[in-house]
Amino acid sequence: MINKLIERIKEKTYTVGIIGLGYVGLPLIYTFHKEGMPVIGYDIDQSKVSNIQSGTPYIKHLGEEMMQSLSQSNRCAATTDFSRLTEADAVLLCVPTPLNQYREPDMSYVISTTETVAHNLREGQLVILESTTYPGTTEEVMIPLLEKHSGLIAGKDFYVAYSPEREDPGNPNFNTAKIPKVVGGHGEDALKLAQALYDTAIVQTVPVSDTKTAEAVKITENVFRSVNIALVNELKVVYAKMGIDVHEVLDAADTKPFGFMKFTPGPGLGGHCIPIDPFYLTWKAREFQENTRFIELAGEINTHMPQYVIEQTSNALNTHKKAMNGSKILLVGLAYKPNVDDMRESPTFELFHLLEDLGAEVAYYDPYIPTIPPTRQHANYTGRKSTDWNEATVASFDAVLISTNHSDIDYSELAKWSDCIIDTRNAMKGISPKNGRHIFKA
Ligand SMILES: NC(=O)c1ccc[n+]([C@@H]2O[C@H](COP(=O)([O-])OP(=O)(O)OC[C@H]3O[C@@H](n4cnc5c(N)ncnc54)[C@H](O)[C@@H]3O)[C@@H](O)[C@H]2O)c1
Repeated sequence: MINKLIERIKEKTYTVGIIGLGYVGLPLIYTFHKEGMPVIGYDIDQSKVSNIQSGTPYIKHLGEEMMQSLSQSNRCAATTDFSRLTEADAVLLCVPTPLNQYREPDMSYVISTTETVAHNLREGQLVILESTTYPGTTEEVMIPLLEKHSGLIAGKDFYVAYSPEREDPGNPNFNTAKIPKVVGGHGEDALKLAQALYDTAIVQTVPVSDTKTAEAVKITENVFRSVNIALVNELKVVYAKMGIDVHEVLDAADTKPFGFMKFTPGPGLGGHCIPIDPFYLTWKAREFQENTRFIELAGEINTHMPQYVIEQTSNALNTHKKAMNGSKILLVGLAYKPNVDDMRESPTFELFHLLEDLGAEVAYYDPYIPTIPPTRQHANYTGRKSTDWNEATVASFDAVLISTNHSDIDYSELAKWSDCIIDTRNAMKGISPKNGRHIFKA
């Protein structure tokens, strides 16, 4: 059976189904489609499905061309009808894996999607989990559910693999197709089939021994980022007290051609991955009576960063003989990183809360997020609108706090318009402030 399936992949008559059409699933479906594969996208969110059908962009950095090509194609379908899962030869799961209120893995999306797949599973299908998760998820959670509800046996009647998504939204140098894909299979045939599938569309496939190794690869990458970001955040605080600019230090250190990799400090961690994924491992490690001390420490340092930024903002206002209470503060950048509209876990929300708790009057400017859409954690901010970007508006604030350095903002305008700028991203590098003013780094 396996060779016939691989033959169909090569002939491009093999249909790729993708569940979850968000930041990961949408570019992934496009990547397979672009290489000539028939694709079907599934989501419970009718608006995403309708937008794909009509060619309307809903993730800003992915743009119109992608949506048009999907909507106009007779090889692409998008649906909320999960009984159509039987039409797919491979089913790739790209659903959320957040933390619950106790900071433990919330597996509800993976479980409910797996159950849906299981109820529609047929012989020969390949099921691949792409969501980030703790080592063991595919073998311990997914496969038992798939077998129980379908009556089929993994590795014999159908195939299962895990392949972490390494998408970096908004990165102009790497899209889904250009990022090597790590794959772990439940058995040799599953690996062979999954590898053949990714080989059609992705620059390189990196096979590993099994699904839990592939799961560990992704967690390792994100733990590495979280720990290193915490390190530079700690250095930022120490060096600031010594009168040393951490950014200058890091830029110079980065000229070393080996043994150093530059990470950049900021106002805290954001996004759907780095603040969350390491704690999937922390949770799983407890089952083995192990502590993940680096992860915990990094979490502690990174989550303290917004508090540090607030202290620096307070000091900046103090220099201008102003109190935080009653001051008008403009936050520049609501997205968690530059040049995207993703505000999940953005530390700017924490800054919003902390500033308002201290009595400041807070507004934001973000060209990527004109209005704050409904979110799980920040319901009271829904509907707030980005301010205008002009001298009169910006100058009416007592302080401007740069929390995300979108590259299409003209920071030299800001230098002319605002008396008091607090910069958490080194966005004002090389820009002189107004006469006699000072740009505060935080
Ligand atoms: N965003 C990133 O940069 C990134 C990068 C690498 C890995 N990841 C991982 O990829 C996974 C997906 O992340 P994302 O950013 O694309 O999330 P997302 O929230 O942008 O998209 C998830 C999609 O799944 C849909 N969905 C939720 N429950 C569903 C269900 N039961 N059935 C069908 N669809 C359902 C949602 O409607 C949404 O469209 C996560 O595990 C994440 O950690 C994300």
